[in-house]
Amino acid sequence: MRMMVNWNGVITPLEEACLPVFDHAYLYGDGLFEGIRIYNRNIFKLDPHLERLYDGVRHLDIRGMIPYEELKERILETAEAAGAENAYIRVSVSRGTGIGLNPENINQTPNVMIAITRLALYPPEMYEAGLRVVTVSTRVTPPDALDPRIKSIGRYVANIQAKIEANRQGAGEGLMLNMQGYVAEATGDNLFIVKDGVLRTPHPACGILKGITRGTVIEIAQDWGIPVVEDWLTLHDVYTADEAFLTGTAAEIIPMVMLDYRPIGDGKPGELTEKIIGEFRQRVREDGVRIGVGVR
Ligand SMILES: Cc1ncc(COP(=O)(O)O)c(C=O)c1O
Repeated sequence: MRMMVNWNGVITPLEEACLPVFDHAYLYGDGLFEGIRIYNRNIFKLDPHLERLYDGVRHLDIRGMIPYEELKERILETAEAAGAENAYIRVSVSRGTGIGLNPENINQTPNVMIAITRLALYPPEMYEAGLRVVTVSTRVTPPDALDPRIKSIGRYVANIQAKIEANRQGAGEGLMLNMQGYVAEATGDNLFIVKDGVLRTPHPACGILKGITRGTVIEIAQDWGIPVVEDWLTLHDVYTADEAFLTGTAAEIIPMVMLDYRPIGDGKPGELTEKIIGEFRQRVREDGVRIGVGVR
C-alpha cells in the first residue's frame, strides 16, 4: 500500500501533501475529524462515521461543506489510489483558511483532507494480556464548553494531556472522568464493564464521544440477548466489575485488566470480553463498503 492524501479533491502521495498555514484547524483546532478502518478492502461502518462527521459540521456551523456523497466518493477513490487492503483512513474537515478567530473574516470554504495510512496503537501481546489503565486528573471537556459528542479537533488537547498523564505512570490508557466525577471515557476509546452478565457503558450524556465501535459492541450484545445499560458509572463500578474493555476504531477492542493498580475481576481478559472481540474481528472482515484495488 502507498500512503496517499486527498486535499480538497486532489490526490497525492503523503510525502508531497502540504496544507495552507492559515488553515483554521491548524491555527485554532477549528474543525472535525474521523478515523475509519479498512479491513479486507471493506470500509467498516463508513456511513455511521460520515453521519457523525456531518452532525459535527451542523453543530459547529461549518458552511459550504461538500455534499455527503461527494465525500464518500473521494474516500473510495483515495483508498483505491492507495491500494489499501487493511488501512486507517483519517478524514479532517476545517472551517476554511484565514487568520483571526472570526469566521466572517476568513475564506469559509472548508478544507477537506483524506489520508490513507496505517495505524497500530498497541502490540498484539497487549491484546492478549490486557491493558493497565489509570484514572487521570484531566476531565473530559464539559458539554457546556464543547460537547464531547462532536469529534472536534480542538477538544483533543485535553485528551493528549490525559494521555501524557497515563504515559508518565507507565499505563496503557488514561480513564477520564466528567466534571461531576462520573466515568466518561479513555483518551481515545469508550469503556464497557461487565457485571453479573450485564454490559454497562457510560451514557452519552456523561460527556463521551458516542463511538462507532461502541455501537458495534451494543449491536453484538443485542444480537446475543445480552443486556446493555447506558449508565452513570463511578470508579467503584469499574473497580468492582467482573470484566472491562475499551473500544475505538484505532484501538479496536482491547481488554482492560487493571484500573488504578486494582485488578479487574481476576486481572485477566474476561470470558465475555474475549467472545465479543472474536465476534468483532469476524464482523469487520465481512461488513462494510467495498473498495476497488488500484495502484499499489
Ligand atoms: C475520545 C474518544 N472516545 C471514543 C472513541 C471511539 O470512537 P470510535 O469507536 O467511533 O472510533 C474515540 C475515537 O476516536 C475517541 O477519540
